[in-house]
Amino acid sequence: MGWRFKGNELKYLKEVLDSDFKLTGGSMVKRFEDKFKQVFGMPYAIATTSGTAALHQALLACGIRPGDEVIVPPLTPLMCTLAVIYCRAKPVFADVRPDTFLLDPEDVKRKITPKTKVIMPVHLCGHICDMDEIMSVARGADLRVIEDCAQCCFGLDHKDRVAGTIGDIGIFSFGEYKMLSSGEGGALITKNVGLAEKIRKVGHLGFKNVSAESAGSVGKNPLRIQDPSFLRHDSIGLNYIMSEFTGAVAMAQLERIHWFLNKRIAMAAWYDQAIRNCEWLIKPQSAPPGSKPTFWTYAVLFEGQKKLGISWYEFRDKFIHFGGDKIRAALALVYNDPAIFNLSRTGCLFHDQYEQGKDLKDFLKDNQYCPNAEYLQPRLMYFTTNQKNQRGMQKQAEALRKTIEYFGI
Ligand SMILES: Cc1ncc(COP(=O)(O)O)c(C=O)c1O
Repeated sequence: MGWRFKGNELKYLKEVLDSDFKLTGGSMVKRFEDKFKQVFGMPYAIATTSGTAALHQALLACGIRPGDEVIVPPLTPLMCTLAVIYCRAKPVFADVRPDTFLLDPEDVKRKITPKTKVIMPVHLCGHICDMDEIMSVARGADLRVIEDCAQCCFGLDHKDRVAGTIGDIGIFSFGEYKMLSSGEGGALITKNVGLAEKIRKVGHLGFKNVSAESAGSVGKNPLRIQDPSFLRHDSIGLNYIMSEFTGAVAMAQLERIHWFLNKRIAMAAWYDQAIRNCEWLIKPQSAPPGSKPTFWTYAVLFEGQKKLGISWYEFRDKFIHFGGDKIRAALALVYNDPAIFNLSRTGCLFHDQYEQGKDLKDFLKDNQYCPNAEYLQPRLMYFTTNQKNQRGMQKQAEALRKTIEYFGI
């Protein structure tokens, strides 16, 4: 058994198998949802099949329709934008702040148009966006806010509010490498009963008997459905229903959320020590100060090229030479990834001003589309934080310290 799955994962999986999907006292997914909302202190939690599905459900629940605009950062995985495109809506990219690496409320303000319906702050690498500012911009323009917490499970902001509980909807991912993992999987939380019901309905095939609290059970009254005139669906929905097996693993993982969290925070503290005197590895700041990030990865801005003339790759290779494990690069900015870039060439995506036939790269450069994200992306380094034990943590920190010393502080 892998070290991350040494809780009740097997026990709960066995319960599901032994019960032939007829667990007494409610399904495993329902148990997971109840526990999730209790941990996050929210009235509604809805399990789903992935973080991407959660984003899609959240957007549909917010009433996003073709042609609407959704503001997203470009410095994030593609999935945030994909969910917007699934709705045939238009992603509009707002820049990130150079000091926090997170969505910049000032640029969000500049990118709002009469078509804007939703702002999607992404709490990247476990760091929390400036939710006071984002909420104030959103409320001023009557917009919904979907917090993407796929990389920030249980981060606290400067007011000790849990990431995902501040906006209208918070979404989570339980993919293989996330803090909690059920292989694939996700969840949404909200305080709004109407949104909760829509989220569940749209992800549960449009069954008419689902509610904000539960997926409903046609089995409770068999005679009601053993009726040729029974009508099950009253809207068009997607099948984003979390399986009982996924629910079993997710439930066991959730029981140990603080253990997982503390490990990542401990690894980050080791890295903090290692880089504390280094002027060319720069940590993201919290704005306003005082948040408690969860360090899904330990992100730093690498300024070794500017300060010492060493390349990102030289640093990476030396780090591995000294026993460090991999350093992940920031993914290409979403609008530079071919899937989105090619779609953009048709002029149907994020830039009304773009004239077809012109070079899109030139357009983006000339318009300084997201200059901070452009600067950061090739210079970011993401160090891993999911070390198995104290020895693994020490080894990582030691490799980082030696690498810095090798090149000179
Ligand atoms: C910020 C962010 N949003 C959304 C997702 C999508 O989650 P999933 O892979 O569970 O679909 C990810 C996945 O890595 C992510 O990092």
